[in-house]
Parts: sequence; C-alpha cells; structure tokens
Amino acid sequence: MWAKLFRRAPEAHTLRLQPSGEALSVGADESLLQAALREGLPFPHNCRVGGCGECKCRLVSGKVKELTDKSYLLSAEELQQGYILACQSRPRSDVVVEVALREAVAAHPVVETTGRITGLHRLTPDIVHLTLTLVQPMPFSGGQHAELSVPWAAASDDAVRRYSFASAPDLADPTRVDFFIRKVPGGRLSPWLVDQARLGEVLTVRGPHGQFGLRPGEGPMVCVAGGSGLAPIKAMLEQAVADGQASRPLTLILAARTQADLYGLDAIDAIRRQWGGRFRFVPVLSAEPEGSGWAGLRGMVADRLDEILGERIGEHQAWLCGPPPMIDACEAVLRRAGVPDARLHADRFLDASHQAQAQVQSQPHERASAGLAA
Ligand SMILES: Cc1cc2nc3c(=O)[nH]c(=O)nc-3n(C[C@H](O)[C@H](O)[C@H](O)COP(=O)(O)OP(=O)(O)OC[C@H]3O[C@@H](n4cnc5c(N)ncnc54)[C@H](O)[C@@H]3O)c2cc1C
Ligand code: FES
Repeated sequence: MWAKLFRRAPEAHTLRLQPSGEALSVGADESLLQAALREGLPFPHNCRVGGCGECKCRLVSGKVKELTDKSYLLSAEELQQGYILACQSRPRSDVVVEVALREAVAAHPVVETTGRITGLHRLTPDIVHLTLTLVQPMPFSGGQHAELSVPWAAASDDAVRRYSFASAPDLADPTRVDFFIRKVPGGRLSPWLVDQARLGEVLTVRGPHGQFGLRPGEGPMVCVAGGSGLAPIKAMLEQAVADGQASRPLTLILAARTQADLYGLDAIDAIRRQWGGRFRFVPVLSAEPEGSGWAGLRGMVADRLDEILGERIGEHQAWLCGPPPMIDACEAVLRRAGVPDARLHADRFLDASHQAQAQVQSQPHERASAGLAA
C-alpha cells in the first residue's frame, strides 16, 4: 500500500521507497534524489554531486544509469549489496530503493537572493573570511551550505560554487552570512574571491542546501576540520551552544599545514568556554618546519587519530569536513576502530578536479539491482 498517489509524466518512471512506502514519478533526466527532494521527502543527502555518500540507498529492483564513480564512497560490502548514490542515479525503468528517510537537519526553504560583500578579512595566506549582507534573509542551520556565483559569470552554471556557512545564524541580523573561502590554485571562482573581490561587490546566493549538521547521538563527539572545512564545523558547534545541545564530550581537531595556516582560534576558544561537556582542541600540522618551536602534533591527521582519541575511539560519533582525501583517510581509521557508518558524517569539499576524476573513472553505465542482475 503506497502512501502517495501521483500522476506519472510521459517518459517518467516510478520510484518507490522502502520501507516508508512513498511512491513518486522521476523524469528520465532527473536523479532519484532530485525527484525525492522535489516532492519534499526527507531523503538523506548533502553535497548532491556524488561526493559525500549521504544519499546512498540500496537498489532493490529496477535499472538506473549512474553518472559518476561511487566505488570510493561505498564499502565493498555495500557495492556487492547493490547500494547506489541517489544523486548520481537516473531511472531507466521503474525502481524500488531501500532508504532510511530521516528528519532533515532543517526544513528551510531555498531562497535565491543577492548579497553585498560587507566584510573581507584574510585569515591565512590562502583563506579569507567573506561576509555578505543579503537582500533577503536566508534561514539555515549550522553545517549547511549555499551556492555562490559572481556577476561576471552569473549566466553560466559552470561558475556556481558551494560554500558552507561559517557561523551559526545571526539572530540579531538574519541578513548577515559568513563564509571561509580557500584559494584553489587554477580554480575559476575561489582565486577571484580570495585575491580580487572588493567590498561592495554583489554576488548571487542560493540556499540553504545540504543536511550536514548536528545529529542526535550519545557518547563522545569528534570533529575533524581540514583547511576551510572549519566553516561548517564552527557553524554547527556555535548552533549547538545556542540551542543548548553542547553537553557531550567533544574533541575538535584542526588539520593545517603550518602554524601560519591555523585560524579561527578565538572563535574556537569562545565555543570552548560555552561548551557544557569536556572540550578538547587539538591542532595537527602536516608541514611545519622542524625546529620552529611547534610543540603540538605533527603529521597527517588520520595517522594521529588513534593516539588523539585513545582507547574509546570506536565509541565516537564523527563529523569530518574539508578535502576529500583527508576525509577518506579519517573514515578508514574510524571504521577500522569500529565506528559504524551511521555515526560518520562527512562534508567533502569537492571541486571540479574531483568531479572530472569521478567522471573519467566511470563513464555513465546502467546498473540493475543486485537481485535482478545476471
Ligand atoms: C558541499 C560543499 C561545501 C563546500 N564548502 C566550502 C567552503 O566552505 N570553503 C571552501 O573554500 N570551499 C568549499 N567547497 C569547495 C568549493 O565549492 C569549490 O569547489 C572550490 O572553492 C574550488 O572552486 P574554484 O571555482 O576555485 O575551482 P574549480 O574551477 O572548481 O577548479 C578546482 C581545481 O580543479 C581543476 N580543474 C578544473 N577543471 C578540471 C578538469 N576538467 N579536470 C581536471 N582538473 C580540473 C582546477 O585547475 C583547480 O585546480 C565546498 C564544496 C562542497 C561540495
Ligand atoms: S548527496 Fe549524493 S553523494 Fe552527496
């Protein structure tokens, strides 16, 4: 018995969700995720570009065309069981998938507006703190992100990039939003934002998007931020403080190259002072020169996780944000220590190079459910 009745458009297929019983129509050029979100269903997701794994679901029956390689996001067992990424799968027949719908982190409507640059401060040699004053307020939850595009490229979808809100919503001024932007050499948008953008310039802002954010749970929390990955972690923790949900033991790890790349320390200290539970802050530097006097941890953050989290590593719930290779390595360590996928939350800062790589690895191909495959 399906919960929803619907009219199926020509050339569309039917997507049925188990165990919720929802049924909806999906156009041939639409992803399963796009259709579910269009219908307002709380389908788990974050990046919508095949980079976070949050939209994984099991193909029970039917055929899909997969747009990118998913093998690096899913375990061998999940691949064998027929898991797919809903944001990267278009229907080629009626399809049934198994997915645990969950309450969205937030149910904020998507708003498209413009924002004037009212703050621009360099935080590190390659990261700036960008503040925009929006024409129209954009309610969001800490951990979500928005799409930014610039006037000189507004007509081209190719120049729309995602950036995470770097502060919890400002209740006193809901038109103010902050971002931490890291310059990616050779990139289209970030070098302009970091080196050339000026106060007063106007950007188009669309959002909020994504479901990265605080999730209920028990036991110790660990947040690992690499580079500008501190943005969603900071926003999420500030919101946890504001909402009175800051009582669990927390280890916040900031991965950077050198001391000059450490930033946000005052904001981290402000969170520490208001955090109700035990709060530990651990910076880890991967390229700090020997003899610099740095007394903290060195090396790749994933290689130091066992030591930082100790015997109880497997009891943690983890939030990981920043460059995809850092997240992959940390996830591997945490999984090995016994942290189940349900307690791993990742926000991979994918860029055009990762997407190009995923597309090369996997030319679009059709996949049938494990049950139906020969
Ligand atoms: C959910 C999400 C949240 C994010 N949040 C943040 C954030 O808070 N802060 C932040 O700094 N970033 C964030 N990012 C990353 C951000 O969206 C951009 O990807 C990043 O700023 C790079 O954009 P760009 O236009 O400068 O570079 P791009 O033009 O995307 O290029 C990136 C790199 O890829 C190379 N490249 C381009 N095309 C190809 C190709 N066809 N083949 C091979 N290589 C290619 C370029 O030379 C460059 O080195 C986030 C990403 C996601 C998905
Ligand atoms: S939403 Fe599908 S992989 Fe991120």
